[in-house]
Amino acid sequence: MTSALLYPSDPLTPRRVDRHFGAEAAEARELGAGIILLDHDALLRGDTAEAIRRVPAGAGPLWYRGWMIPAGRYADLAAALAGRGAALAVPPGRYRRAHELPGWYPVFEPVTPASVWTPLPDPARPPAPADLAALAAPLGGGPGVVKDYVKSRKSDWDTACFVPDLADSAGLHRIVARFTELQGDDLAGGIVLRAYETFSTAGRAAEARVWWLDGAPIAVGPHPDTPEEHPEPDLAAVGPLVAALDCRFVTTDLARRADGAWRVVEVGDGQVSDRPATLEPARLLAPLLRAGHPAR
Ligand SMILES: Nc1ncnc2c1ncn2[C@@H]1O[C@H](COP(=O)(O)OP(=O)(O)O)[C@@H](O)[C@H]1O
Ligand SMILES: [Mg+2]
Repeated sequence: MTSALLYPSDPLTPRRVDRHFGAEAAEARELGAGIILLDHDALLRGDTAEAIRRVPAGAGPLWYRGWMIPAGRYADLAAALAGRGAALAVPPGRYRRAHELPGWYPVFEPVTPASVWTPLPDPARPPAPADLAALAAPLGGGPGVVKDYVKSRKSDWDTACFVPDLADSAGLHRIVARFTELQGDDLAGGIVLRAYETFSTAGRAAEARVWWLDGAPIAVGPHPDTPEEHPEPDLAAVGPLVAALDCRFVTTDLARRADGAWRVVEVGDGQVSDRPATLEPARLLAPLLRAGHPAR
């Protein structure tokens, strides 16, 4: 069965696929897929009609492969496509579930660091120290990590990511305030606090990114940050949880804890997970195009 894929267009050359995804889209064409273009910039600024101008009526259901889309904008996209008889392979509710930590955390709780979260409607107004202390209380004291529902500021590890002691409310507030300041309007959903787990003696350890389609692992490869490393995670505990999540195309990033246990650092929707250059596009595209789109 031949399917079509939706890719972001190049901001400077709107008739072409964004160059970051160019090689992957070329491979998809080789495999017989039609390529349809989405104006990702227009979608993010709320001009949904412009964003889907190049999508033919009746297209799909479409797999998307491209830059992350905030869950609310993804819902706008789905609604606009429905208006012209086109559809996404992953409905908006399932996208949000895999993309945002509060969606996947309840399912993955046994295999991922303990976490708490609170929505943050206005990133210019981070929670007060007392509210953060109350939020962090269930995690107990000790080190932690701050992120939003989707991303961290891991490149600002000491100032906006790592919290030496979650019970030190002034210190916690300082890191969260800096995090929200740096995220600005890109802050996704709200604030997440996670208990720190030691994944290696050297601090940040190489992760494995596992790609799952309809509950089966289709590729086990490096994390995009460490494209030359090929950890071999034990998937026995994770597989049933991915199936329980009930999202068609997801990634799980796994790290080996100091005690040997493989832990899920984060889950993502496979449509917007970055593919390391060392992972052959066909490893993902061939199964996706074969999978078809059963109605759900
Ligand atoms: N709970 C944790 N314990 C220890 N290290 C963590 C924890 N959460 C995140 N990290 C480290 O921070 C990095 C970034 O966190 P992650 O949740 O993957 O955010 P991002 O979406 O920005 O990649 C991870 O790759 C891992 O090295
Ligand atoms: Mg990550």
